[in-house]
Amino acid sequence: MIRRWFSGAAWILALGCAGSLPQVTVEDAEGTGIPLGDLRAGRERYVAKCSGCHELHPPGAYDDARWAREVEAMAERVRLEDQDRRAILLYLQSMNADTIGNG
Ligand code: HEC
Repeated sequence: MIRRWFSGAAWILALGCAGSLPQVTVEDAEGTGIPLGDLRAGRERYVAKCSGCHELHPPGAYDDARWAREVEAMAERVRLEDQDRRAILLYLQSMNADTIGNG
């Protein structure tokens, strides 16, 4: 019973974290020139691959060069397919201040 409650709470917490990362909008796609589907896929991979150990850093937290280094560093901790790495980086680098003045 307690176990059940606990796993339910953990699930809600996990959802809460992902929820604080803004959804990709049509405006973002227009502003970045990246197809909406690609941005959404990148966000989805980011949440799936990167939320396991710590809170998700919003794309606006770092510039392009720093994101490249951070994702590179994290790739040593988490198994990332090339495709995932590209999708995540595309999302993070497109949604930050270098591209659309976010954050
Ligand atoms: C296996 C656990 C784990 C996963 C999964 C993980 N990280 Fe991390 N991450 C860490 C730890 C531990 C740190 C603490 C700093 C360090 O040791 O590098 C960290 C630090 C970071 C930092 C630096 C924070 C700072 O204050 O400088 C960023 C950015 C980051 N992670 C991004 C990511 C991204 C992007 C992904 C997905 C590709 C990811 N993390 C997946 C464990 C993880």
